[in-house]
Amino acid sequence: MCESTTLLHVIASPGGEASHSTAATSELLAAYRERHPDHRVHTVNVWDLEMPEFDASMIAAKFAVLRSQHATDAQKAQWARAVAISRAFNDADRFVFSLPMWNYGVPYRLKHYIDIVTLPGQNWSWSRAEGYQPLLRDKRAVLVCSSAGDFSESTVAPGAYEDFQKPFMRQWLRFIGIDVAAEVHVAPTLTDPQRLAQVKQAAAEEARRAAARL
Ligand SMILES: Cc1cc2nc3c(=O)[nH]c(=O)nc-3n(C[C@H](O)[C@H](O)[C@H](O)COP(=O)(O)O)c2cc1C
Repeated sequence: MCESTTLLHVIASPGGEASHSTAATSELLAAYRERHPDHRVHTVNVWDLEMPEFDASMIAAKFAVLRSQHATDAQKAQWARAVAISRAFNDADRFVFSLPMWNYGVPYRLKHYIDIVTLPGQNWSWSRAEGYQPLLRDKRAVLVCSSAGDFSESTVAPGAYEDFQKPFMRQWLRFIGIDVAAEVHVAPTLTDPQRLAQVKQAAAEEARRAAARL
């Protein structure tokens, strides 16, 4: 990768300085900058980003622009807002997600962002012959996952609650053509202060190692 390489840091936690996932990501980014001082690092915080609703009118705009020749100027402008957010995402080469678990999945603002970013013709396509195809190439991501409980193991004990955070992210990224190069766990965060300090220390080390995988 050359000097035009861009890493996009997607912040899905509203926690700011208090966010465990963002703090561990800072360690990763510091190590990444040491390895690649010439790369650009951009940040998108889904809690600050102005995102259009993906409602009935956006869906109507989508079909009018993509499937008919009769889109109004207003519909073209509405669709262009979604396309601009999608392109800004697709333009990056490397991705790091600071990702708290919310109700076993991801925070709703991140889901909103994903629903806007994931557009036909921008990062996926469908044809009768080939079905769904990812359009992105040579892209890698690291997931920095934080949760009150410990979901670092991929196996789920019978009767235990399942993790829909990492599997959802893995499937979405695969769908558009981004490889998950590493996953960093900051968990469990709901624990006594001594154990939490160990968790944060281990996550910081894991995060710095993950920088080499990007
Ligand atoms: C709305 C909400 C839902 C949550 N749901 C879960 C959950 O399902 N499982 C879990 O282990 N922790 C859950 N948590 C706890 C967070 O995942 C945990 O505090 C995590 O460390 C937050 O990461 P952050 O500090 O980067 O924001 C939830 C927190 C919030 C605010």
